[in-house]
Amino acid sequence: MKLSIGCIPGDGIGPEIVAEAKKVLNKVAQVYGHEIAYTDILMGGASIDVHGVPLTEEAIAAARGSDAVLMGSIGGNTVTSPWYRLAPNLRPEAGLLGLRKALNLFANLRPAVLYDELADACPLKKEISAAGFDMMIMRELTGGLYFGERYTTQEGGLRRAVDTLAYDEKEIRRIAIKGFDIAMKRRKKVTSVDKANVLDSSRLWRQVVEEVAADYPEVALEHMLVDNCAMQLVKDPAQFDVILTENMFGDILSDEASMVTGSIGMLASASLNDTKFGLYEPSHGSAPDIAGKGIANPIATILSAAMMLRYSFDLDAEAGAIEGAVKAVLKKGYRTVDIMSEGCVQAGCKEMGDLLADEIR
Ligand code: IPM
Ligand code: MG
Repeated sequence: MKLSIGCIPGDGIGPEIVAEAKKVLNKVAQVYGHEIAYTDILMGGASIDVHGVPLTEEAIAAARGSDAVLMGSIGGNTVTSPWYRLAPNLRPEAGLLGLRKALNLFANLRPAVLYDELADACPLKKEISAAGFDMMIMRELTGGLYFGERYTTQEGGLRRAVDTLAYDEKEIRRIAIKGFDIAMKRRKKVTSVDKANVLDSSRLWRQVVEEVAADYPEVALEHMLVDNCAMQLVKDPAQFDVILTENMFGDILSDEASMVTGSIGMLASASLNDTKFGLYEPSHGSAPDIAGKGIANPIATILSAAMMLRYSFDLDAEAGAIEGAVKAVLKKGYRTVDIMSEGCVQAGCKEMGDLLADEIR
């Protein structure tokens, strides 16, 4: 099969981790007889440095012209980087939001899994983590507060800022359908998370999710308020299968869920639209403090590449091979510094990429 993959190395550790993901993908292509053509795409700070803006029309066109896009991470230190002295719409993050919107990537899938081998890294008490967990956070990605009207005014010497949280039923329905579809392939439980005790947008969310649920009689649906969900994630994470939620709640809960795994450097993500196209990136950020040191954990990006093979190319065996390689390398005791524990062998970013590529035979 011919795979045309757009690559956004991005900023910070992005270029290092994407290089390792390509190494692993190339090995997969070699073993399984595929042909990959990569197109490098500038986005975020890297694009600002060259073009003065975080996302160009050419970059959008290049992403659109690919079957799927693999991304590292974007952004820099928000205090010290000159990128953050630019107007908000010219900062690195605006590039990512612009790309999500331009490509209509409304469904963001963020799996949070507790790996047996890394159970010690889980910050929860043993009696809670012993049950293990494996959840999929489905975050709506192109609506809500992130894309509502916003402005800052000054009235009578008083500064005032407004952000708007709006959803229409179409936006809710399409992410809900994706959530239930994915639940059907998992443990058939959806927890829809909202703030329906306060927000109108959440009350509509709840209604539309109920309507969609009627088409999925096999899936158990429950509603949970977002503040309670934040609590339940540390109290009993094993209860969750699919968490379905709006943009900002999903942003916050997915960081919390990743922390609970104890290994944010391991967590992949996929952003999908209604076609086979997807943008795949690690759930973590660009970690500018460790950029260039060769110690970043490339596994989240490599697992994102596995999600890409599965969701955009239907190459389940190849995706499984990557996931199996990750488990095998962990079992052999290799760890990057972020997941290091006693008795294990420390590996740098490149070395981890080599070990994983070697496992694919
Ligand atoms: C994420 C990030 C982004 C978001 C930022 C970089 C704009 O936190 O992907 O979760 O808030 O969506
Ligand atoms: Mg986030």
